[in-house]
Amino acid sequence: MDLQIQGKKAIMAGGSAGMGRATAERLAEAGVELYITARREERLVNAAKEMSEKYGTTVTPIVADSSTEEGRQTLFTACPDPDILAITIKPPAPNGDFLKVTPEMWRDSIDTALIGPIEIMRNYIPVMKDKGWGRIVNIATFSAKNPMIWRLMSGPARSALINYTASVSREIAQYGVNINNILPGMFATEGADEIIGHYADAFGLAPDRETVMTHFLQNNKIPAGFVADADDMAPMAALLCSPLARFIVGQNIVIDGGQHHSLF
Ligand SMILES: NC(=O)c1ccc[n+]([C@@H]2O[C@H](COP(=O)([O-])OP(=O)(O)OC[C@H]3O[C@@H](n4cnc5c(N)ncnc54)[C@H](OP(=O)(O)O)[C@@H]3O)[C@@H](O)[C@H]2O)c1
Repeated sequence: MDLQIQGKKAIMAGGSAGMGRATAERLAEAGVELYITARREERLVNAAKEMSEKYGTTVTPIVADSSTEEGRQTLFTACPDPDILAITIKPPAPNGDFLKVTPEMWRDSIDTALIGPIEIMRNYIPVMKDKGWGRIVNIATFSAKNPMIWRLMSGPARSALINYTASVSREIAQYGVNINNILPGMFATEGADEIIGHYADAFGLAPDRETVMTHFLQNNKIPAGFVADADDMAPMAALLCSPLARFIVGQNIVIDGGQHHSLF
């Protein structure tokens, strides 16, 4: 399918690994001029080089932490006028006992998973509005609508994010600027691997991948029967970044193999 975005300018904030990288790949393949950000430089620079060589398009790496004002300003300076903006972060670590969640942990979660994406959108929405076209996609989490006691550092901040985008998307759709969110379930990514130790701590398990995955699958039914790869969500993210999605406004697309059981 031709996504009709060749030559457009796109930012993938959080584009060096996992679902951000997979989304960046689909955008690069479709011929956009791409800017990808992350905090860790080496993986970011390698990702940009690999995608640029593979797809023959310009991919600019920008070391920038979306959760800080300084990081966001670095991004805004490097790419002031994108047509497409996709945003993600790494999965926040599972909390243990909810009674031990401190105000400092809440502040970190809110800075990273809520204020960062909101501030990036707030900067670029007027730019897209002036152009008369824009696409914004947040890669958040299905725990935004499926609360889990061990995902307190991820779900509540994203529930607020999708509440924000539900309102803002309806305000700006008249200018050709659409915001939608993808809410992923369980995906085997670099970020998921990095929090295995925290998951093991939270549930008192041995900190190895097999033990953690077995525990997860025993306690979380995935009707599709498998844990997804990042490529299982990237085509949907790329579609939402395209003109083909012009009538999709303010939606939250759950991609979780059927794990969240609800009508909508
Ligand atoms: N994997 C899962 O099973 C799962 C389940 C539910 C929801 N999700 C959600 O899906 C999203 C993507 O997760 P993932 O598993 O694909 O993560 P991932 O593999 O860790 O990839 C995250 C990407 O974002 C970058 N990043 C992280 N924090 C950043 C920040 N503050 N500023 C700029 N870049 C940042 C990472 O690079 P650096 O670390 O170098 O910055 C990396 O490029 C997250 O919102 C996560 O909560 C994931």
